[in-house]
Amino acid sequence: MNFLKGRDFLKLLDFTSDEIGKLIDLASELKAKKKNGIPHRYCEGKNIALIFEKTSTRTRSSFEVAGYDLGMGVTYLDPTGSQIGKKESIADTARVLSSMYDGIEYRGYGQKIVEELAKYSKVPVWNGLTNEFHPTQILADFLTIKEHFGKLKGINFVYMGDARYNMGNSLMVGCAKMGLNFTACAPNKYFPDSDLVKTCEKIAKETGATIRFEEDPNKAVIGADVIYTDVWVSMGEPVEVWQERINDLAPYQVNKALMDKASSGAVFMHCLPSYHDLNTAVGKEMGEKFGRTEMEVTNEVFESKASIVFEEAENRMHTIKAVMLATL
Ligand code: CP
Ligand code: NVA
Repeated sequence: MNFLKGRDFLKLLDFTSDEIGKLIDLASELKAKKKNGIPHRYCEGKNIALIFEKTSTRTRSSFEVAGYDLGMGVTYLDPTGSQIGKKESIADTARVLSSMYDGIEYRGYGQKIVEELAKYSKVPVWNGLTNEFHPTQILADFLTIKEHFGKLKGINFVYMGDARYNMGNSLMVGCAKMGLNFTACAPNKYFPDSDLVKTCEKIAKETGATIRFEEDPNKAVIGADVIYTDVWVSMGEPVEVWQERINDLAPYQVNKALMDKASSGAVFMHCLPSYHDLNTAVGKEMGEKFGRTEMEVTNEVFESKASIVFEEAENRMHTIKAVMLATL
């Protein structure tokens, strides 16, 4: 089961399609064990450290529960509870933590930071989200798609919204690696970095995936099996960008009219958290400020039968467990 022993998990580009497929299959096996109450304490006696420089519900809970299920000790280091980056460099932190722990999760800002941590760490480092990539999220998304549609290859996948950030980038890489047809739909300026696009196009040629960019939401969703979106303003971005994002991305909101144009049987996905109503402090503040009750997705779609966001959230835990088990 530890077929990636000693490897870091920093971005999907570092893994072959076969390795990604094996991680998804392992997650599926571990999920079945969990559901059937079959113990799987394969990492008994090991300890892991979870570094979070940004907040989290799903990722933190997934690493913690998966760690406990595998029989490990878990230490959570919150944004204020460590010396990292303030009084101690990333390189020094890596050398200290990897002398005590068997694996380190890192959520923070630039991808360079997690790469640096991994460079100086003697134990596997797992990326729990950076500005550029969110690779464990994509494993959960793909397990969910596979459970729902029975396959990944050939699925028409449409990402609506800011495609330059962690989710757009990682989903494009994931789709290229696993043979899905990826469309990013947004105004041109929100398309991913052109070097990353070139890399993905190259990969897509080998896997049979396609990569497409479309500014018209009504065209983009024709034939879509999955419509995916993310928040318009990500963690760590200044509050001033809200106005521009709302202006630019409002036409790309996932609503019923858009879902109705997709394939019959299309599903709605979102990494969460989501501003689909006014029941959050930020959603309420921004909603009132800009006169909106919903942002990237309407409450109607979020709560509809087509929405598989909570299956997707649960799968974070099973897939993160697979990543840890495979690499430890
Ligand atoms: N999807 C996701 O990463 O959620 P959290 O920010 O709650 O971890
Ligand atoms: N793009 C979002 C993803 C959250 C899981 C963010 O970085 O805040």
